[in-house]
Order: sequence, then C-alpha cells, then structure tokens
Amino acid sequence: MWVWVAFYRPAPKRIGPFGVPFQEKILRVAQKNGTRTVLALDLEDADPSRLLARSREVLESVRGLVCAVKINRQLVMALGLGVVADSILKLAKDYSLPTIMDAKLNDVGHTNGFMARTYFDMGFDAVIASPVAGWENGLDTVFEAAKSGEKGVLLLTYMSNPGAEPFYSLMAQRPDGHGKPVFEILTELAIEWKASGVVVGATQPRVVARVRQLAGPKLPIYSPGVGTQGGDSTAALEAGSTYLIVGRSIYNSPDPAKAAMEFRRPIQA
Ligand code: XMP
Repeated sequence: MWVWVAFYRPAPKRIGPFGVPFQEKILRVAQKNGTRTVLALDLEDADPSRLLARSREVLESVRGLVCAVKINRQLVMALGLGVVADSILKLAKDYSLPTIMDAKLNDVGHTNGFMARTYFDMGFDAVIASPVAGWENGLDTVFEAAKSGEKGVLLLTYMSNPGAEPFYSLMAQRPDGHGKPVFEILTELAIEWKASGVVVGATQPRVVARVRQLAGPKLPIYSPGVGTQGGDSTAALEAGSTYLIVGRSIYNSPDPAKAAMEFRRPIQA
C-alpha cells in the first residue's frame, strides 16, 4: 500500500488526449497576467505592411495586460490567413496568449467544418460561431473539428449592438405553449453542446446576469461592447461576465498599454 502512496500522482486536471482545453488555457493566462481582457486586434490600414507593423506593436505593448487575442476580418482580409498565422499568431504564441478567430460561423455543416478546421490548423485556439445554425449539418462539424475541447468553440448568444436587441430578445414560443427569449434558448444550446463559452454583449448587463443564472458559475461569458460601444466594464463583470473583449478603446488609444491597464481586473482562482 505504501508503494502506491509513494508513487501516486494525481492525474493532471481535465487534460484530455489532445492537450489542455481552451477554457483552461485562457483561465491560466488570465490568472497569471491578472486580467480578464481579451484584446480585439481589429486595426485598419490601407497599407498592409503598416497594418501588420502597427498590429504587432499594439500586441507587444499589451502582451502582459491581456489574457487572449481575438482576430477578426480586418486582419484576415487585409493580410491573408498565412500572414496572420506566421506573424500575429506566432507572436501571440511567443507571448503565451491564446488566440480566438471571430469567424461567427453560421453556414451549413461542410462549410462550417472546413472553416473551423482551417482556422484551427492555422493555429487559432478557438472560433466564435452562431448557434442559430443549429446542430445537425450546422455546427456539429465545428465541434467535431474542435476535438473534444482542446480547441474552443464560443457561441454568440446576445450581440452587443443596439440593432441586435429585437431578435435576441424575441419571445420564441414552443409547441407546448411555453415561451422564452431567443437568447435563453441559445444559452441552453451552448450548455447542451458543451461550448467553451458564450458571447454576450456588455451593453446589456441584465442579459449577462440572466445568462449567468441559467448557465451556472462555470460557463465563461465573453463580453464585447465596453468602452467605445458604451458598455460599462464594471457593470458587466458584476453581472457575471468572465472576460471582456476590448478593441478600439485599447488600440486607438495613444497609449494602448495604459488603456489595457485601466481595463485590468483580476480573475478569481
Ligand atoms: P470594440 O472596438 O467595440 O470591439 O471594443 C469589439 C470586438 O468584438 C466584436 N464584437 C462582437 N463579437 N459578438 C461578437 O462575437 C458581439 O456581440 C460583438 N460585438 C462586437 C467586434 O467585431 C470587435 O472585434
């Protein structure tokens, strides 16, 4: 018996055959860097080399003040996936920052699957998808590509822009007569499909609070919309957001590191 005790080592927590799950990867960085800010690196510039240089510069200046980097079409369309992978994703990796592709996948299964596999193969750690596409021949291929959680799939549950409210708040009636808002149904789907997180606009703290109530304490809530879009970071975090997605308020600041510092909030262990 003593031999067993001497050699016993608890198995590393939640590390599957494919590596550290995205959810845990970002949490570890958030704890290490003492921040819940995901940098949205969405700079625009007609000159690709200037765009690349400026993006790298912003990333370098805030590297210890953010817990992940989110890339959107601004970089992928202007620079191409290859350049983004070889420069920005590589730099993020050098700084131990997980990367998210804000692809908002919302097509039929084989196309979604192709996009997800391509982004993952290029080095992204997570993708954002829209649960409105449904599971069968919709997002099933995306979750399949994520290999049981090593890569993350974040589901868009309530958008931060004012024009999104009529749809996401719409009361959807089920055949049994029970109705609930669309965003609540999307939250339930995220739980059922074991998503790595949900995206809920910081501009709607009451919605964040309701999603937190439905999802329980563990499901990460990613909230864009603070700063430039008018959302209040403190209100969003108090309502239950886990991470804040921040773009323009950081990269348009004359001092991005100072701006990132102002958004910095520690995450509980
Ligand atoms: P700003 O500059 O407003 O950028 O801080 C926010 C970033 O987040 C994206 N964004 C969203 N992404 N659901 C999302 O998945 C949303 O509701 C949402 N609102 C903004 C936006 O594209 C930018 O990258």
